[in-house]
Amino acid sequence: MLQRAKLVCINPKCGKTYPIRSLDIKCNSCSSLLDAKYEDKPNSNLKEVFYERRNPQGSIYNESGVWRFRELLNFCEIETEDIEQCSKNLVSLDGAEGRQSKPYHMSKVAEFVGINNEDVVFQPEGYNPSGSFKDNGMAAAVTHGKMMGAKKIICASTGNTSASAGMFAANENMECDVYIPEGQIAPGKLSQAYQFGTQMVKVNGNFDDAFTKSLQAAEEPGSYTVNSVNPFRIEGQKTIPYRALEALNWEVPDWLVYPGGALGNISSCGKALMELYEWGWIKKIPRIAVINARGANTLYRLFNGQFEYEKLRWDDGVPNSNLIQGLYDRMLEDESLKPKTKATAIQIGKPANITKGLRALDFTNGVVEEVTDTEMLDGMSVVGLNGFDCEMASGASVAGIKKLRDKEIIKNDDKVVGILTGRQKEPLLPIDYHNDPANRFARPPKN
Ligand code: F0G
Repeated sequence: MLQRAKLVCINPKCGKTYPIRSLDIKCNSCSSLLDAKYEDKPNSNLKEVFYERRNPQGSIYNESGVWRFRELLNFCEIETEDIEQCSKNLVSLDGAEGRQSKPYHMSKVAEFVGINNEDVVFQPEGYNPSGSFKDNGMAAAVTHGKMMGAKKIICASTGNTSASAGMFAANENMECDVYIPEGQIAPGKLSQAYQFGTQMVKVNGNFDDAFTKSLQAAEEPGSYTVNSVNPFRIEGQKTIPYRALEALNWEVPDWLVYPGGALGNISSCGKALMELYEWGWIKKIPRIAVINARGANTLYRLFNGQFEYEKLRWDDGVPNSNLIQGLYDRMLEDESLKPKTKATAIQIGKPANITKGLRALDFTNGVVEEVTDTEMLDGMSVVGLNGFDCEMASGASVAGIKKLRDKEIIKNDDKVVGILTGRQKEPLLPIDYHNDPANRFARPPKN
């Protein structure tokens, strides 16, 4: 299926369009982020095509859990059944991105969160080749980078983005510079980025500072940013809910639950749902729940009106920027507001996709919850007891579901999908957890 695509400013009052072959990530009129938009409505009988591609018949683009759905993110405007056009355009790690991730029932996690096992599933995105959900979006972003003739991939990262960017860049013979907050990134992730031959740029500051520096660097000709402000990252990550929905026979659950950091992932989920609904592929809209770490809870505070009387909302594309800036200003002065959590993956104070995230919450009647480090560690650990693996930030999905169920926001009999965003890359965390008998699921060693 051929497609016509463009970039559109997400602010409905502006709506300025840009060619799909453009390096803009923000609207030059109103500074809002951009969306990829498609002119042609995909036919819902593609659901069968996607399913049949699970028998890949020798095509890595069918094997890929991202490109299997290529008609729904055809920003390359290619004839999707033409294998030559696919191989010329689509970046893939031999079909490995998204291939292994789908939702599973995990009985011990279900019991922990207080939901019947039939009603809740968890999708381990850590089973991606670089070990996190980032590979879904990175395959798409690097595809667009290649289309634009980029020579160097640039990102800031709390770890997983750099591992993913480095992996795809190495495979495509591109350079990759990663901006990392010094001392705040898990060694297991850092070592991956080194292993893939990236150029590390250490930034004295936190993720938010590293992100600002990386965007400046990406202005250089031939450089290309792959942080989630890149609209094509968002396109690739739409395949996370696609795979979840496909596994549920496209019967829409009541909830999709994600950890929240820079809010790229929920932005992407929201966009996927908006499109599926507009195309008539789904008749009901699931609610998105975003779970912040208590130590990095910008969205939780703003959305739930923790500081000001007014709660931050999408407001038709123009959220009240004074509320956001007010919190960011306080962060400069008040040490206790600076992002601080052991779940370094989501230790982010200024979520770059906040507007798109608010749009996703608005469209899905979503909620924002926060969980403590201890709750995340319990969530991570109970996933392990089912024979699955995830990192601490992913434990936020489990802990958040439990909290929302305890508060009766998730109702009895609601169907819930929890996204486990990455695999364990910090070996000391489970060791420390299990060596402390005070921890809920600890199994300390015997002598
Ligand atoms: N979970 C994991 C394991 C992550 O690595 C991240 C983000 C998130 C959740 C949050 O996702 O930003 O889309 O809301 N990690 C980024 C990185 C920032 O640099 O690897 P988000």
